[in-house]
Amino acid sequence: MTAIKPEVISDPRVLSERLAEIRRQGKTIGLVPTMGALHDGHLSLVRQSQSLCDVTVVSIFVNPTQFAPGEDYEKYPRVLDTDLAQLESVGGVEFVLAPKPADMYPEGFDAHVHIGGVTRRLEGEFRPTHFDGVAVVVLKLFNIAGADMAFLGQKDYQQAAVIQKMVRDLNLPVEIRVCPIVREEDGLAMSSRNKYLSPDERRQAPILKRALDLAQKMISEKVTDAAKIKHEMRALIETAPSSAIDYISIADPETLDELESVGGRAVVLLAVKIGTTRLIDNVVIP
Ligand code: PAF
Repeated sequence: MTAIKPEVISDPRVLSERLAEIRRQGKTIGLVPTMGALHDGHLSLVRQSQSLCDVTVVSIFVNPTQFAPGEDYEKYPRVLDTDLAQLESVGGVEFVLAPKPADMYPEGFDAHVHIGGVTRRLEGEFRPTHFDGVAVVVLKLFNIAGADMAFLGQKDYQQAAVIQKMVRDLNLPVEIRVCPIVREEDGLAMSSRNKYLSPDERRQAPILKRALDLAQKMISEKVTDAAKIKHEMRALIETAPSSAIDYISIADPETLDELESVGGRAVVLLAVKIGTTRLIDNVVIP
């Protein structure tokens, strides 16, 4: 991949014009929406986009509308220079959209996007305004970029399900690709929020993956009672002294409705605070 420097654009209208020209040349556009603080998980999305699309656009925007008061909007890591250096070293990213909040939400902005169904439980229950914020910004990004494909990480499983539902329900002309979770050597799913963990908490954090491995093992041993699996997972997670479980769920992979019994396809999802840092992770049972 050529080590080109991405062109960094803050004004969404300028990016739209540049990309309209590119589309007129018959080229396809891949979008990787991010909030920055890029890690190998994001870079794997960039590589996927490069392999499938002619032009790759990465958006870096800590989106205020998806954070509730008291969440980590202010402290969310903002490291644009490091992000750009990483994208440059990966190569092959043509454009970075790095808008300011006022570029995305100018004075008088007053639009809302609410996706029902899959947003109700899990993250939707613990962060009731979160997915409306995600939906509005992602819809804007799709429109700004006119993307043919968008690349999302499976770590945010429910987010990907919400965006896929938005695409279906609103007939958006974009194809969603959900890419596998990228993990640290000890199993911790990569996340920009891992930076918040103290060294002691960081040592405890792989408990999420261990609990998912346990669920997978029980299911492979033909345990079908979801309550029993969740009970064992809970007991394991509680051995980590700084852990506090928000939810453990075994759900239908499409609707995210809770399953009582695991027979066919399922997704095991969890959200656990380690100290004050809230981590999420999941595994799909084929
Ligand atoms: O997953 C994220 O980083 C964000 O929720 C997204 C999709 C970029 C929207 O702000």
